[in-house]
Amino acid sequence: MREAVDALPPLTVRLGRLVGTRVVEVATDAWLGARTRGLVRNEGALRRVSVGGDSEYYEAIRLTWWRRIMSTPTVVPRESTFVDLGAGRGRALLLAARRGFREVVGVELDEALAEEARANLRRWSSRRGTRGRAQTLRVVVGDAATFPPPRGPLLVFIANAFGVTTLHHVLTALCSTPRGDEAAFIAYFNPQREHVFADFPRLVVHARGDDWVVYRLVGAPGPGAPGS
Ligand SMILES: C[S@@+](CC[C@H](N)C(=O)[O-])C[C@H]1O[C@@H](n2cnc3c(N)ncnc32)[C@H](O)[C@@H]1O
Repeated sequence: MREAVDALPPLTVRLGRLVGTRVVEVATDAWLGARTRGLVRNEGALRRVSVGGDSEYYEAIRLTWWRRIMSTPTVVPRESTFVDLGAGRGRALLLAARRGFREVVGVELDEALAEEARANLRRWSSRRGTRGRAQTLRVVVGDAATFPPPRGPLLVFIANAFGVTTLHHVLTALCSTPRGDEAAFIAYFNPQREHVFADFPRLVVHARGDDWVVYRLVGAPGPGAPGS
């Protein structure tokens, strides 16, 4: 099979891959009952308004990528909150809702995308009827840099949504908020700014793959941290 693909002209291979990706993306949305696919080059506009000035554009997380990063055990979904920092049209939110997270929160700076994510979640809620009554789903229009991490067992998801400055704000907030013995994890897909984690010794690598890493929060905030 590999030899057969190698023998094709490069343009044909590229075209084949594009068509393949498109088919998978349409099928993913059909399965989710949502419209989340696509690429939105919104980073220029967002960089002008974001705290860190380092926003990345919208591209939906692919199902295979999601499955890779979520393959490692972290929190117990039915007892935990899932937060997607840079939620876009809400694909990861829908996938987390399907996994049964008690609370699913999207933070998205682009108002239009946040509205689309809300519409997608509304459709999901109406389809699931009363089965998921204990589940809360919400999308906040705002900057990840200023979003306070919720209490309780927590999984924060970041799919390369922003650069160093915003990531620094996010990790500072997580590490300086007292959490008692509540578990907290960060799942970072396409971890281009992973070096920032080196400034946060309370965040230790829990699991790692080729294009993802999951960190676990350990210990307690040091003296001088808010609430300490
Ligand atoms: C790669 S996409 C994330 C895809 C999404 N998590 C999913 O489930 O498919 C990055 C998203 O982050 C958003 N974004 C960029 N900077 C942000 C910021 N500072 N705060 C919140 N959202 C931001 C972009 O608008 C974009 O929707």
